[in-house]
Amino acid sequence: MNGVSGRMGYRQHLVRSILAIRDQGGIELSDGTKVTVKPLLVGRTEGKLAELAAKHGIEDYTTDLDAALADPRWEIYADFLVTKARATALRKAIAAGKTIYTEKPTAESVEEALELAQLAKAAGVKTGVVHDKLYLPGLQKLKRLIDSGFFGRILSVRGEFGYWVFEGDWQPAQRPSWNYRVEDGGGIIVDMFPHWNYILENLFGGVKTVYAQASTHIPTRWDEQNQPYTATAEDAAYGIFELENDVIAQINSSWTVRVNRDELVEFHVDGTHGSAVVGLFGAKIQHRNATPKPVWNPDLADSHDYDRDWAEVPTNEIFINGFRQQWEEFLESYVLGTEYEYDLLAGARGVALAEAGLESAREGRKVALPELNLG
Ligand SMILES: NC(=O)c1ccc[n+]([C@@H]2O[C@H](COP(=O)([O-])OP(=O)(O)OC[C@H]3O[C@@H](n4cnc5c(N)ncnc54)[C@H](O)[C@@H]3O)[C@@H](O)[C@H]2O)c1
Repeated sequence: MNGVSGRMGYRQHLVRSILAIRDQGGIELSDGTKVTVKPLLVGRTEGKLAELAAKHGIEDYTTDLDAALADPRWEIYADFLVTKARATALRKAIAAGKTIYTEKPTAESVEEALELAQLAKAAGVKTGVVHDKLYLPGLQKLKRLIDSGFFGRILSVRGEFGYWVFEGDWQPAQRPSWNYRVEDGGGIIVDMFPHWNYILENLFGGVKTVYAQASTHIPTRWDEQNQPYTATAEDAAYGIFELENDVIAQINSSWTVRVNRDELVEFHVDGTHGSAVVGLFGAKIQHRNATPKPVWNPDLADSHDYDRDWAEVPTNEIFINGFRQQWEEFLESYVLGTEYEYDLLAGARGVALAEAGLESAREGRKVALPELNLG
């Protein structure tokens, strides 16, 4: 596990996923096999690794990635590094023949992301890329609504993602400063468009084109040392995505917006037979038979309570942490040798959407997504 001192590496992958699996004695696969996990922590600072290892009862840690990759005891290489450092590490791990599990984005350019997928294929290496948002309870409820035919024909999707990330001067910022520097792999398009890609392609249809407007609304921020720096990356992106099946998606991504909705991300889906608004956890629906008939009249205050026209979708099952659920599925696929859909090629499609989004923003035009294949 490389990068376990970071935000994602520590909390989501180490503590909530791998240690949670280890501490419950492993997992039982669909064929009855029991599998457990034993992590090796990899990083640049020995002291930090030693501290984490002691805190969580982990025997193995190292600052020598090459030696770890050369050691056949460690079967899976997992990567939670800053985006900029990822491709180099993945290349080494693929060359060493390790199975790969990695955070997104898998690389900084689509060319490199695709090359990594091709290298893995040529090396016969299994790969997995984090698709965590698909496992959110709200999106799993949405998937169930889609599969049940609730929507009829889906027409459009409107997504709102974001919250206010403090500038860092009078209150510390709640995201690392590299996110706001393009030269360090930052920017909300590179961060969020890979998520939008796998959500859209798995729920509604592959993305055909994108039009994005990017803005750096806050030009100066303060870093971890309390020093001002110039924000070179966009902190908001306003995107329109044309999908297969004539579905139009419009998603705002912003670190410069104050929340006035139920959750930090919400998707509003309209279909001929019904509509839904889903968030991280919640989902509410309105069927065509429960749809009010508003009439536009600016002269009269409208007393209709539109919120009350929506019905809550109940939580009929227990959802576990999404990162952990995906880890469990990946481990099962690895041990049983089954196909794994969320692989480096899927990761490359996410990078392609980010790259096309940036190109669109730069040139002020709609950009078509390339067909990616492993050749
Ligand atoms: N799936 C998600 O929802 C999600 C959310 C946030 C971030 N991410 C992704 O996870 C990755 C990590 O993000 P984070 O917010 O945890 O970042 P972070 O800055 O908290 O952690 C980054 C880790 O990389 C290490 N690192 C930094 N520079 C390095 C270098 N040059 N060489 C080797 N190691 C280096 C750090 O020591 C740390 O362990 C990013 O690629 C990001 O895009 C995913």
